[in-house]
Amino acid sequence: MEIFIDSAHLDEIARCVDLGVIDGVTTNPTLIAATGKPLPEVIRAITEVVNGPISAEVIAVDTAGMVREGQALAAIHPNVVVKVPLTLAGLSATRQLTEAGIRTNVTLCFNLPQAVLAAKAGATYISPFIGRIDDIGGRGMGLIEQIVRAYDKYGFPTKVLAASIRHTLHVVEAIEVGAHVATLPAKVIEQLVKHPLTDLGLERFLADAAKVPTA
Ligand code: G3P
Repeated sequence: MEIFIDSAHLDEIARCVDLGVIDGVTTNPTLIAATGKPLPEVIRAITEVVNGPISAEVIAVDTAGMVREGQALAAIHPNVVVKVPLTLAGLSATRQLTEAGIRTNVTLCFNLPQAVLAAKAGATYISPFIGRIDDIGGRGMGLIEQIVRAYDKYGFPTKVLAASIRHTLHVVEAIEVGAHVATLPAKVIEQLVKHPLTDLGLERFLADAAKVPTA
């Protein structure tokens, strides 16, 4: 399973990359806006910190505009993956970008048929938003499970990227149902490591080690 960081914040990306567990990055317009900087500038800076797929989202809502923006984003660096919304125009743009050799991440997926259409359009990644489904009383992880099973059954090469992950249990379940990728906020990545028995065990080992000379 691959782990991406869901962030446009350079410092936290660099901090998590230092852990040695980050395979790629996802951003969205909200995360980019929080930096106060233009999208190309942020994406270029991220390519210098992470050597892996980096998703950058188009803003246009028509196919031609999405393709134009997607080509410009892809020209920033070979690691850039163009994030396209799951709309009719987005599906056409995904097909055109795929045929131009540009990788895509089809985002804002909320049901199985959407995911199958994205795969048919040639998406490299599909991003179902788990947390936002849970927010309205659905079972986000159930959707991930359905998509993983359907892609497997029909042999679609599109990778299932579990997005909108909010906490550790989401990560546990994403692993269990076989999501190919999980994109996690820095806060969640750092929380995954924490366990009270690890802290207690380390405390005892250090206390015992202090009872004898070190050399
Ligand atoms: O990048 C998409 C996604 O991870 C958004 O998460 O928490 O805003 O639903 P959230």
